Amino acid sequence: MADTLTVVDNRTGKQYELPIQNGTVRAMDLRQIKTAPDDFGLMTYDPALMGTANCRSAITFIDGDKGILLYRGYPIEQLAEESDFLETAYLILFGELPTATQQQTWVREITLHTMLHENIKKFMEGFQYDAHPMGIFLSTVGALSTFYPDAKQIFDKVSRLRQTHRLIAKVPSIAAYAFRHSIGRPYIYPDNELSFSGNFLNMLFKMTELKYHPNPVLARALDVLFILHADHEQNCSTTAMRNIGSSHVDPYSALAGAAAALYGPLHGGANEAVLRMLGEIGSVARVPEFIKRVKASDGDVRLMGFGHRVYKSYDPRAKVIKKIADLVFAVTGKNPLLEIALEIERIALQDEYFVSRKLYPNVDFYSGLIYQAMGFPVEMFPVLFAIPRTAGWIAQWEEMLLDPEQKIARPRQIYVGPAQRDYIARDKRA
Ligand code: CMC
Repeated sequence: MADTLTVVDNRTGKQYELPIQNGTVRAMDLRQIKTAPDDFGLMTYDPALMGTANCRSAITFIDGDKGILLYRGYPIEQLAEESDFLETAYLILFGELPTATQQQTWVREITLHTMLHENIKKFMEGFQYDAHPMGIFLSTVGALSTFYPDAKQIFDKVSRLRQTHRLIAKVPSIAAYAFRHSIGRPYIYPDNELSFSGNFLNMLFKMTELKYHPNPVLARALDVLFILHADHEQNCSTTAMRNIGSSHVDPYSALAGAAAALYGPLHGGANEAVLRMLGEIGSVARVPEFIKRVKASDGDVRLMGFGHRVYKSYDPRAKVIKKIADLVFAVTGKNPLLEIALEIERIALQDEYFVSRKLYPNVDFYSGLIYQAMGFPVEMFPVLFAIPRTAGWIAQWEEMLLDPEQKIARPRQIYVGPAQRDYIARDKRA
């Protein structure tokens, strides 16, 4: 059996053999299909790139039907159980789990770069008192490029590594400063004796105590949530990172754009919508009535936190999160909305409507409940997503830069506007 696709152009009667590789045909192979020598050639039309592989990647694998998520081949469940965020970030960035020495050096480098330039602090002070922390976050990440002009050397391996250390280390500091600014509290400097997530909690929640002691259960829960969000292959923000990076801009500017894509409610904001929905339902007793409304609405009212473009079975990240929720609630007290969420899941998983459409809880169904119980306002949710995803964004950016097949992203269009026409003087226009 030949790995080719035979295409017959019924306009000309000509036949073409297109190679099939990795289950794909190359869109550029279609360009030879023409009706005349001056014809541009056939293109594919694929809004939202739903049927187009935009790159070859060795970072993350998803099997949506089976509910499998692997980073560099390692199942997400095992990483969530055994690893920590910095080790997982190393794996995603460099392709292998670090040896003990590599891990030590990596953690030291990240720890040494957690401080922000004092002028960054001043820059952040300029935001309105009620500025959204995600707006502060993405602007500040973009501003970092002006502090590190060496970041423009994107084809210098040493420079790329330096920016990687800086970005992974500084995003929690920026996130924490953004949070403290939005609630009018003084900024807290990093404590390098603490773990990555422990220090993040310190920068967020330290008050007048001389030394902040993060709750180990909460620090671990946050670390696991960071592992679960570290990469998710070619989603909207990662595609933005690759597209912007393909112009060869520095990684801070590209990452600011990726964070902006994540800011949108269709991407990083679904867990906020889950909390709003649970609040509206209000009690376990009202769950059946709400489910009925969803079913009757013909898609207008959705069960937020359910369904996924890729996962057509239980999102493997949601399973891990559900387990963490119990550990977190044992420390913080149960989020009163949890009972409502559990009842929704119980009913939906045995309801024909949801079963037949393969609608299962996704990563966002329980994460908002945990963040809320830990004391985060909903505005911080996308910021909490951006911190770990920084590892994925950088890994995908570097993979794109080093891929000899990649060029500046420049899709085509189908022009549907007016044909050429002559300029009309202002006094002659209707
Ligand atoms: N509640 C009720 N019905 C739903 C839902 C839902 N959450 N999601 C999909 N459906 C129905 C939809 O009405 C349609 O029904 P029908 O076949 O009768 O027209 C069918 O299921 C297929 O839906 P679709 O919109 O074609 O599916 P999609 O793959 O385009 O959408 C989705 C995926 C995530 C946008 C959608 O499931 C949704 O809106 N979910 C709620 C929002 C949400 O939780 N988003 C977070 C996604 S995970 C974040 C991440 O991984 O970054």
